[in-house]
This record gives sequence, C-alpha cells and structure tokens, in this order.
Amino acid sequence: MMNKIDYLRISLIDKCNFRCQYCMPEGSELDYLLQQELLTNREIITLIQELFIPLGFTKFRLTGGEPLLRPGLAELVREIANLPQTRDLAMTTNGFLLAKMARSLYDAGLRRINISLDSLNPETFDRIIGNRGRSRWQQTWEGITAAHQVGFDPLKLNIVIIPGVNDSEILDLAALTIERNWHVRFIEFMPIGNSELFSERAWIPSEDLRSQIRDRWGLSESQVTGNGPADIFQIPDAKGTLGFISQMSECFCDRCNRVRLSADGWLRPCLLNETGQIDLKTALRQGTSLDKLQEQVRQLILLKPEINFKQRESGTNTGTYTRTMSQIGG
Ligand code: GTP
Ligand code: 5AD
Ligand code: SF4
Repeated sequence: MMNKIDYLRISLIDKCNFRCQYCMPEGSELDYLLQQELLTNREIITLIQELFIPLGFTKFRLTGGEPLLRPGLAELVREIANLPQTRDLAMTTNGFLLAKMARSLYDAGLRRINISLDSLNPETFDRIIGNRGRSRWQQTWEGITAAHQVGFDPLKLNIVIIPGVNDSEILDLAALTIERNWHVRFIEFMPIGNSELFSERAWIPSEDLRSQIRDRWGLSESQVTGNGPADIFQIPDAKGTLGFISQMSECFCDRCNRVRLSADGWLRPCLLNETGQIDLKTALRQGTSLDKLQEQVRQLILLKPEINFKQRESGTNTGTYTRTMSQIGG
C-alpha cells in the first residue's frame, strides 16, 4: 500500500547566517535567490490552501536556509496555524536568532521546533558552522533554552556526526536527554551539500553510536514512535529520547510521507532526487488554474514511490544533487 503523503516541508529562504561545513559549501552564497524569486507569504498560503490542503496535506514544516531570517515570519506562522486543516506545524532552525523570537513564534501558534546543535564545545561548534568571529555557541544555546522555557514541546536537537570533528561528543550529547525532556537526534552525514568534505570523512553508522550509548547506560527502543524518519530509543529512566536518522545505513523511503517546496517555489518529491520537480511559482504567476496545478501535483505524488531515493539503488533512475541542503531545507 502506498504511504499517505500529507507532510509538506516549506523552505522559506535559501540564505543562512551559518556556513555549516556539511550543508553550505563555500561560495554557495553567490547563488542566493533574489527577493522577487522567493514565494511571497500570500503565494505560500494560496498554495497551502488551494493546492495542498485539498490534496490531503495536514502537516507543515518551515525550513530554510535559516527560516528565522525570513521577514514576516510570525505572520506567516499565524496564518498557517489558523487554518482549520493544519494538524501539525513545525520549524527546523539553527537557533541562533531564537532567543528573541521564540515567544512571538509560540504566540503565533508554532508548537514544534527542531534545532541543530552539533557540539557542546564552543570551539568545535564554531568550526562546524564556519564561524571565525566571536563564538556563536552561547547565543545558540540561549535560543534552545528560550524555546524550552516558552513551552515548545517536543523540542528536538539535530546533530550531524562528522568523524574526527564531533564524534568524541556522542555520549555528552546523548546525556542531554537524561535530565531534560528533549529529543536528541543523530543524523547520518549525507553526501549532499559538500561532497568534498564527505569523501574526506565518510559517515558513522547509527548502530555504532547506539552501541557506544548502550555500553555506557543501556538503551531501549522507545514506546514513542515518530511520524518521521527517526528510529527512537531511550536511555533507561531518561526524561527525553534519542532518535537516529539513518538514511545512509538504512533506507526509510518506504515510509516516506513528505514532499518539499523550495523557497523559489519548486515542488520536489524527494530530498535526494530531483526527478519530476514542478515549478509552482511560475505556474502561479502565469495564472495557471489551480485545478490544473492540483492535477499535476496529484500525478507527481502518485509517481513518488518511483522517484524515491531507493530507486537509485536498483539503477532505474539517476537522482541528482544540483541543489545544496540549505537550498532544499533538509
Ligand atoms: P519530525 O520527526 O516531524 O520532527 O521531523 P523531521 O525529522 O522530518 O525534521 P527535521 O527537519 O529535523 O529533519 C532532520 C533531518 O532528517 C533532515 O535535515 C535530513 O537530514 C533528514 N531527513 C528529513 N527528512 C528526510 C527525508 O525525507 N529523506 C532523507 N533522506 N532524510 C531526511
Ligand atoms: N547530512 C545530514 N544532515 C544534514 N543536514 C544538513 N546537511 C546535512 C548533511 N549533509 C541537516 C542538519 C540540519 C538540517 C536542516 O539539515 O542536521 O538540522
Ligand atoms: Fe523520502 Fe527521498 Fe528521503 Fe527517501 S530519500 S525518505 S524518498 S525524501
């Protein structure tokens, strides 16, 4: 049976105030979109209301680049949160500007937030995010604690483990879940965005991380099941959980429930495969009827299992990576 595709990830902006090594290779800022190339808030709402909701979408996630850099963000959150069909509205951010914005986003109706935190060591953190100035660790940590205090629940922390850079911190990062009701997720490093870095470093399978954690504290499969790609575990008696997103060692495409909208309005059926994308922005601006667009999107969703990344392994399709993670939104 085919999965229900009911989750739309919306990239709001391709700019970012960090330069994470694994996400935005140096020089990619030269290709930033121009203001007029971005979907406007009005266009995003029109697409959600007139196209995606009628097709059964009820879950929305705002990503970037860095979504907190998008002007008018709280208003957009409010409009999406207020749609009666919205069952889940979440955001993925680097957290650097969050301390000041957490309250207004919560008040606008956002309830779930995922924040990247690749290291507890300020020097390592700055190295990963490509920061050569004053350390940005503290302000990011304040963003995370502000989100916690304001009431975001669940609060998820995303960690990409890069061998030789932050793999010595696996236990310290996992330990964050013992006393706090946080969801710490380890994401296998993918060869997207910066394939040079990838060929130098490769990736560590989630099972290796789990065995380190198991040796230290024990580890059980959690009763909580997510609706995303993470496999969820728990340190015995911990308040929070540990998630493992293992797209390199394990294929979770058969449970994929999502499509992605880029900041410039391309609908992309799979993170790792560009086949079949639709340029919704141009269609909308040229006055293509929404009924017609809806039919195109419906066809794309029906085709999705064939476009999924796993198909590459069987050689039936040749997915490409012409966009970086910061352009797709993770
Ligand atoms: P929830 O579990 O609903 O909170 O969301 P999520 O895990 O989908 O959201 P998040 O934006 O935090 O995603 C974390 C990371 O998981 C992404 O940056 C990707 O690295 C990876 N990921 C998310 N969705 C996919 C997907 O469809 N395919 C692959 N290969 N990786 C994904
Ligand atoms: N491999 C795995 N995850 C990545 N992210 C960005 N680039 C990569 C990559 N090459 C994830 C980060 C961030 C999210 C937006 O995307 O963890 O949380
Ligand atoms: Fe979905 Fe593509 Fe990710 Fe597989 S690789 S889970 S199909 S987005």
